[in-house]
Amino acid sequence: MSAMTDSAKQAAVGGCSGTVGGSLASSGVIDGAIRTIVSEVSSRRAMITDVRGPIDGLKEEYAALMARAAAVRGRGLLYPYIGSGIGHGALVELADGSVKWDMICGIGVHFFGHSDPLLVEASLRGSIGDTLKQGNLQSSMEPHAFSEVLLAEAGKGSGLRHAYLSTSGCMANENALKVCFQKHAPARRVLAFKDCFMGRSLMMASIGDSHEGRVGLPIVADVDYMPFYDEVLAERMGPARFIDLSLMHLEQYVHRYPGQHACFIFELVQGEGGFNTGRREYFKALMESCKSHGIAVWDDEIQTFGRLPRMFAYEHYNLGEYVDVLCVGKMTQVCATLFTEAYNPRPGLLSGTFVGEGVSFEVGRRVIERLRDGDYYGENGRIERHHAAFRREVKSLASRHPGWFPEVAGVADVAAGVGGMMRFTPLGGKKEKIQAACKAIFEAGVVLFYCGHGPYHLRMLPPLGVMKEEDWPRVFACIEAGLAKVAP
Ligand SMILES: Cc1ncc(COP(=O)(O)O)c(C=O)c1O
Repeated sequence: MSAMTDSAKQAAVGGCSGTVGGSLASSGVIDGAIRTIVSEVSSRRAMITDVRGPIDGLKEEYAALMARAAAVRGRGLLYPYIGSGIGHGALVELADGSVKWDMICGIGVHFFGHSDPLLVEASLRGSIGDTLKQGNLQSSMEPHAFSEVLLAEAGKGSGLRHAYLSTSGCMANENALKVCFQKHAPARRVLAFKDCFMGRSLMMASIGDSHEGRVGLPIVADVDYMPFYDEVLAERMGPARFIDLSLMHLEQYVHRYPGQHACFIFELVQGEGGFNTGRREYFKALMESCKSHGIAVWDDEIQTFGRLPRMFAYEHYNLGEYVDVLCVGKMTQVCATLFTEAYNPRPGLLSGTFVGEGVSFEVGRRVIERLRDGDYYGENGRIERHHAAFRREVKSLASRHPGWFPEVAGVADVAAGVGGMMRFTPLGGKKEKIQAACKAIFEAGVVLFYCGHGPYHLRMLPPLGVMKEEDWPRVFACIEAGLAKVAP
């Protein structure tokens, strides 16, 4: 099977027609070899059909793999997870032969699940370039072709015109911050939301609002924190009053440090912070205030990109006109900092040896094209339908086991989040219990994780690109079995 056009193949290798590289890209021998490999992967993945326990006799071998991983890392893995190298959609096989539902997907990276034939094909095409790494100084067309596809989507609802690529979300954010600082030099303060997360560099850990992420580190950023939209509080006091008070809060900072704020970092749906959602009026009011004070609006969509009922979070909230700088990562495979013409930095500010690998560019480009061409978005799109199915399952679980879902202060609904960012809050949202639940659910056949800084929630970033709506009861049967082991 080959779903790629000749021009797509040429982007993969980089040659124009008439060059040796171009002839390699459209070689029938390569096509045939790729078809053979993809068909072999497809027939093997078809053998994976349901959750199962480890294969008899592999226990010791698996324990030895875990010990090797722990030795090189200097600490054990959080989950006993070492993949075998194959899966089937939302199901993944581990090296002990067990099969689990993957509802976290490398923290949101594998939207098309495991061993997806089209993405295996894209990886193979991306792997035959003359070098593995593509750099800023020398590259084939692959990074530029990736950026074109991304920018074409971003350009539909925002003024974002250019992209600089990098190999981690954190680095994309570092670049975004530099772009904002340079534009507004000598301003050096940053506005950020309570509970935001932006990555693990010293600078991003300084801005990110997580105590645990910066134990023992010097704080290298001057940050002023704003409240994130608080649904429960806003309901109690009235959303308009909540917005007014927050605007006052922002004005106080601007008054205290006039001309010193370079940017406000917006994570429109908070990821690590707890899958917290906001409201258009709230973000709009803050962004308008930023505009009036000459403060850049920087939108971190590294966790949200592709997963919401619209491709970009700023589209979901209809805020594209305000965004100056934006970062994507995770699902895109390649991370990128996008900016408007006005924020295009001076030469020399952004660079680095690698921008990524051919495989990442090809797979990333296919991911964005599939999102663009599929039926994912919109009110009745696939993402909304999955979210509704997820909520139904949580509600049904809670009605069967009300004792597992005591009320939690500040949590309006046991099932929350938006689109493909799903969270639910059993066990009072207590950290130790939620962590124990993650492990028990893993044992019962579902890989998920937690989020929040208290209360804590179980979180899922499922592979909605390949998951079927009828999979949800099967996933929740395992979750129920796992929770039963830790619930009171
Ligand atoms: C919103 C957000 N920004 C930045 C990052 C950092 O990305 P990376 O882990 O690829 O450096 C993450 C990672 O979870 C994230 O969720």
